[in-house]
Amino acid sequence: MPDDAIEARIPASCPVTISEILRRAWHHDLAGLKALLSVPGRASVQEPTTGETPLHAAIRSCGARTQKNNNEAPAEKSASVDIEAAKAVVHELFLSGAIWNDVDSNNETPGCVAARLAQDDLYNECVSAGMRAELLFGLLDGYEALDSDAEEEDEDNGEDKANNREDAATNEDTEHQDDAPEDIILESDPDRAFLPPQTEGTVTSAAYLRANLTYTDGKLVDDQNNGVMMAWETSIMRSSVDALLPGLPAGKRILNIGFGMGIIDGMFRETQPSRHHIVEAHPEVLKHVETSPDCTFGKDWEASASEGAYKIYAGKWQEVVPGLLEQGELYDAIYFDTFGEDYSQLRMFFTEYVPALLDEGGIFGFFNGLGADRKVCYDVYTKVVEMHLADAGLDIEWNELDVDMKGLEKEGKGEWSGVKRRYWTLDKYRLPVITLMG
Ligand SMILES: C[S@@+](CC[C@H](N)C(=O)[O-])C[C@H]1O[C@@H](n2cnc3c(N)ncnc32)[C@H](O)[C@@H]1O
Repeated sequence: MPDDAIEARIPASCPVTISEILRRAWHHDLAGLKALLSVPGRASVQEPTTGETPLHAAIRSCGARTQKNNNEAPAEKSASVDIEAAKAVVHELFLSGAIWNDVDSNNETPGCVAARLAQDDLYNECVSAGMRAELLFGLLDGYEALDSDAEEEDEDNGEDKANNREDAATNEDTEHQDDAPEDIILESDPDRAFLPPQTEGTVTSAAYLRANLTYTDGKLVDDQNNGVMMAWETSIMRSSVDALLPGLPAGKRILNIGFGMGIIDGMFRETQPSRHHIVEAHPEVLKHVETSPDCTFGKDWEASASEGAYKIYAGKWQEVVPGLLEQGELYDAIYFDTFGEDYSQLRMFFTEYVPALLDEGGIFGFFNGLGADRKVCYDVYTKVVEMHLADAGLDIEWNELDVDMKGLEKEGKGEWSGVKRRYWTLDKYRLPVITLMG
C-alpha cells in the first residue's frame, strides 16, 4: 500500500517553488493556488523524487472515502475533508493545463489514486478531463496526418505513441527539473497529455508486420515476446460472437479483421455462415494458415463453399477493405481485432468503412483493449469511443463481462510468463455491441 502521508509525498528535499504549489493543492487552498497558476506549466509540476503533481496532492489528501468525508453523508461532513473544495481545486488545475495521466513514483495517475481511495467524484473529474484531452489529441492527430507520408507516419507515430507513457512522464520531467535552478519552474511539455493509450504491445504496425512470430501452446507472440493473441481471451471471443450473432443463426455474412490464432474465426465458422471473409496482413500468420496441420482455414476451407464465399484476404485491411466496398460486399457481423495499431486506425475503420459495409440490422464489434492496462484509461477510452462512434452515425451498447483473473494477476507470471507486457489488468471487460443509428 503506498504511503499517502504528506511528508512522504512532498519531502523536505522538494524545491521550494514546487513544494509551495503542491502544498496549496494538498490543502485545497484555491485562492493561493490560483495566484501561482498564472504561469504556464505550473499546474503540472512534479516533485522530483515522488512524481507528485498538484492533482495527485489534491486528491491524495482527501484520504479514503468513508462515511465521514463522503458528501452524501452531510450530517458528518463538518468533521471531515471538504470534497467540494477538493473538486474545485482539481477543476482549476485541469483548467490550467494539469495532465490527467501523469504517473507518480507508485505508478499511479491522479485517477488511479482517486479510484484507490474510492473518491468517485474526483475520479469522474479525472475521466472527464482525460476524455477532453484525448478528443483534442484526435483532432490534432487528424490534422497532422494530412500531409505526411503514410509509411513514415506509421513509424514515427508509433514510436511516439506506443512507447511507455509512464516512462516519458516520470523520467523526462524529472530530468528537466534536476537541471533547473531551484527558483525557476520549467514549463512542462504541452504535448505530454496528448498520448493515446498503449496498444496491446509496444510495437509499431510496420515493425510488427516485419517481425517473426511464434505460435506456442496458448499464445501467438512476436520476436520481442509481445503477446499478439492469447488463449485466455477465448471467453471474450465467445461472448463477442454471441453478441454479434444473437441466437447464432446459420447463413449470416461475416467479416473478421485479424486472424491471429483463428479463435474467433473457428467460432464464426461453427455458425455455418453464407459468407465468411477474413483479412490478415502478417506473412507468417498467412503461412501458418496455409501450412500448419493445426489450422483448418486453408485452401480446403475456401473451396468448401461457392467461389469467394469463404476467403482469407492477404494484406493490410487498409488496402483490402476498400476493395470489398467496391465489390459491393455487405455483412451481418463485422469484427475488428488487429495488433500494433493505435486507436486512430480503429477509428478510421469504424468511421470510413463500417457504416458502408454493415447491412441493416447488422452488428459491429471490436476487441476492446483500449487503455486496458489501467482502469482510468479504460474508462476514458470508453467515453472517447462513444463520442467517435456517434460522430460516425453508430450506436453502442456495452455488455460488461467478468474476466477470470486467475493466472492474469502478475506481470511475467501465469499466463504472462514469456510475454513482455501484461496488457490486460482489469477484472471487467466492456464488450461493444455497435449498430447503425436509427
Ligand atoms: C490479436 S490478433 C487477432 C486474434 C483473433 N481475434 C483470434 O480470435 O485469434 C491480431 C491479428 O491482426 C493481424 N493484423 C495486424 N495488423 C493488421 C492489419 N493492418 N490488417 C490486417 N490484419 C492485421 C495480426 O497479424 C494478427 O493476426
